[in-house]
Amino acid sequence: MSTEKNKLTTSWGAPVGDNQNSMTAGSRGPTLIQDVHLLEKLAHFNRERVPERVVHAKGAGAHGYFQVTHDVTPYTKASFLSEVGKRTPMFIRFSTVAGELGSADTVRDPRGFAVKFYTEEGNYDLVGNNTPVFFIRDAIKFPDFIHTQKRHPQTHLKNPNAVWDFWSLSPESLHQVTILMSDRGIPATLRHMHGFGSHTFKWVNAEGQAVWVKYHFKTEQGVKNLAPDVAAQIAGENPDYHTEDLFNAIASGDFPAWKLYVQIMPLEDADTYRFDPFDVTKVWSQKDYPLIEVGRMVLDRNPENYFAEVEQATFSPGSFVPGIEASPDKMLQGRLFAYSDAHRYRVGANHNSLPINRPKSEVNNHQRDGQMRSDGNGGASIYYEPNSYSGPTETPENKPAAFEVSGEANSVAYDHNDHYTQAGDLYRLLSEEERTRLVETIVGAMKPVERDDIKLRQIGHFYKADPEYGQRVAEGLGLSISQQA
Ligand code: HEM
Repeated sequence: MSTEKNKLTTSWGAPVGDNQNSMTAGSRGPTLIQDVHLLEKLAHFNRERVPERVVHAKGAGAHGYFQVTHDVTPYTKASFLSEVGKRTPMFIRFSTVAGELGSADTVRDPRGFAVKFYTEEGNYDLVGNNTPVFFIRDAIKFPDFIHTQKRHPQTHLKNPNAVWDFWSLSPESLHQVTILMSDRGIPATLRHMHGFGSHTFKWVNAEGQAVWVKYHFKTEQGVKNLAPDVAAQIAGENPDYHTEDLFNAIASGDFPAWKLYVQIMPLEDADTYRFDPFDVTKVWSQKDYPLIEVGRMVLDRNPENYFAEVEQATFSPGSFVPGIEASPDKMLQGRLFAYSDAHRYRVGANHNSLPINRPKSEVNNHQRDGQMRSDGNGGASIYYEPNSYSGPTETPENKPAAFEVSGEANSVAYDHNDHYTQAGDLYRLLSEEERTRLVETIVGAMKPVERDDIKLRQIGHFYKADPEYGQRVAEGLGLSISQQA
């Protein structure tokens, strides 16, 4: 068999005679359908794009490792966290949320922080953001929320009216809106921001005892942000600024790192804590549940190929490993469905067998066939269960921990409706300069809103968080608090 590396071939492996000139009838004649190399080349090119992610379309990725620095075995039996010093390969994808694949990096938006740990018991995906909270707390509101962040169906322009209409009618967004409008809304680089799992998850130890857990990745580079005017200038000059910065840092050996901490809440505290600990619009007080160090994540290798590794990467909040489980958080519950569904649509039913997504541990199941099956499809091995042929079987010790449920089935809201205390606490934590910039940013963002009733409704929320906060936004917009409905 020929192993000539430099011989150009067709996709079916035949040598190509001419890759510069199409085959024509006579030197000036029409092109021949017989030039199958040309047809194949054009047809494949037409199919080079997969649909971009419906959210988080613009992103940058890197490979690295996670190393355990502290013993967390009292809380979880997850194998990759089982020993101090243990290293697990991982891949991360950072992203903006609302923009399209070619949009600018330095916009005001949360940043995605999606980590895939290739553990010896399968892949664990932690699909978080650079903020500890989110705008809404029930998955049923997500498509409406995202519509307001995307383009208007007629003008195809971003629509501040929809953004503030939705937020002002969804006051649970106030905490996240305050973070987004603060200095942290535009990170200086992807290396200079923290990451969070945001949701509450469940950890289960080897004895079957469970706790609630929240994840915090703290950047070792320090938090740095961009001033809005600088960010706008960079967006015009180099829309890929963050992507380029990450690639160049890693290429030059300046490997970014984060320390991973968790907050641990005893299971029974969830019933008595002063708000619902599964509500993703709230943070847990670190006085109540201090940060516990777990390990360190280091990014030390750039992707070889952007499409294969970053675009085709698929992260799902439902990819758990033994020792890590879901909580009843209503947003998380919706996400357990949404991601794999998006992957089947965007990349295909066999997305998990692509090299970037394939677990580094053995995969044994009875799933077969489907488009683009490229991993041998289980060969001649047993393809159903139960069977009499010693095929792979379940391991009961890996069943998720059983938990009690009670109550009537119904569509109910979280019963905790204090959307204001934590947003107000954050406002009060800011220095005078930071408050001034926060208010300027909000006023700038709300000015284009067409309707005063929307502005006044939102000002009312800022006011309830802190009267000074509401007052200053009202003044900036030339409105009076007394006009508030
Ligand atoms: C991406 C849905 C909330 C973080 C996505 C994608 C979908 C989605 C469909 C595209 C997936 C793909 O094509 O590969 C939802 C729904 C949510 C929700 C239905 C609420 C119920 C959240 C929250 C966070 C988050 C609360 C963070 C705490 C991310 C990240 C990505 C993403 C980081 C990009 C993953 C990547 O880099 O491939 N989301 N999302 N999402 N989402 Fe969400």
